[in-house]
Parts: sequence; C-alpha cells; structure tokens
Amino acid sequence: MASFKTLVFVSLLVIAALAVVPIAKAQLGGLGGLTAGLLGLIRIQGTLFCTANGRVSNAGASLTPVFPNATVQLQCGSGNVVSTAITNTSGLFSIVLDPLQFLLSSLLSNCKLVVSTPLSSCNSSLSGTTILQSTLQLIGTTLAGLLSIINLIPAGFSPIIN
Ligand SMILES: *[C@@H]1O[C@H](CO)[C@@H](O)[C@H](O)[C@H]1NC(C)=O
Ligand SMILES: *[C@@H]1O[C@H](CO)[C@@H](O)[C@H](O)[C@H]1NC(C)=O
Ligand SMILES: *[C@@H]1O[C@H](CO)[C@@H](O)[C@H](O)[C@H]1NC(C)=O
Repeated sequence: MASFKTLVFVSLLVIAALAVVPIAKAQLGGLGGLTAGLLGLIRIQGTLFCTANGRVSNAGASLTPVFPNATVQLQCGSGNVVSTAITNTSGLFSIVLDPLQFLLSSLLSNCKLVVSTPLSSCNSSLSGTTILQSTLQLIGTTLAGLLSIINLIPAGFSPIIN
C-alpha cells in the first residue's frame, strides 16, 4: 500500500510538473516574441552569374558560370552607395542591414543593386561597358533563434550601359 501511495504521489508530482512546463514555455515564448521584434536584420542575398544579363542561363544554375569577385553596391535615391559586398567564388553576395536604419518599404521602392565591376572581368567576350542592375524583392521573414531576418533578393538583374 505504501508503494501505491508513493506511486500516486510521484504521479501527481509529474502531472504538476507537466502543468508548469507549458506556462514557463508560454512566458518564454512571449519574451522571445518581444525580443525577436527588437533583434532583427535585413539580409539581401543573391547569386551573380557570368552571363550578358547576370542571370542563370537556360542550361540551369549548375551549368551557368558564376561571376566571382564582383563588387555589388546597394544604391539608394540618386545613386547613394549605402552598402557594398563582393561576390565569393560561388558568385554569392550578402548584404546585411539594420532594420532600425532602413525602412523596408523605402528599400523596395527607392534602392537598387548595382554591379560596379564590368562583365568583361569574368568573361572577356562580354561587354566592358555594361553593368548590371536590379531592384529588390521581398521573399519573406525567417527566424534564426531570437533573430528575425527579413530576406530580400534581387528582383532580376538587367544590363545597363554605363
Ligand atoms: C578581385 O578583385 C580585386 C579588385 O577588383 C583584385 O585586386 C583581385 O585580384 C581580385 N581577386 C581575384 C581572385 O580575382
Ligand atoms: C559563398 O558564400 C555563401 C554565403 O555566405 C556560402 O554559403 C558559400 O559556401 C560560399 N562559397 C564559397 C566557395 O566560399
Ligand atoms: C563567354 O561569353 C561568350 C558570349 O556570351 C560565351 O559564348 C562563352 O561561352 C562565355 N565563356 C565562358 C567560359 O563562359
């Protein structure tokens, strides 16, 4: 009988403990939500290809050469360079911005990516006077721990005569 009482007591303790956990989680969740709202960043990421328009060719991404070591500027307003990145050997670039300093709506309407390195530097058959430009597109928000990341990509590069 004593062991049965102990069992009941332990079971009640377990039930009580289980009842407490969701409350603790809920409180933490609330705090997490609050913190995520404050701890955020805007990330602009894309891949530059070594083609006449900087986009992937019909052959597909794995068969299209990339454009490494290219300078990608984020320009806002009338050509104000607010951030710069360089593509890595995979053609990938990443620009991270503080959402407290940049309004998402104004980034989307007022800013563009400009590749200041001429296309000829990745393929000498391509133009040395044409540069690539793209506006920005919002693809969504992801959570990384307590960090809320607003993800932007190039809407699509196009060649512009410099
Ligand atoms: C990358 O570009 C810089 C300047 O544009 C140049 O000095 C450097 O040699 C380049 N690096 C590679 C690996 O092409
Ligand atoms: C290029 O940068 C991306 C993102 O930072 C990374 O995932 C990738 O491994 C890099 N590629 C190389 C070859 O460094
Ligand atoms: C360089 O560009 C030319 C013209 O678009 C293309 O025919 C050629 O295949 C390219 N070379 C490489 C190595 O991608």
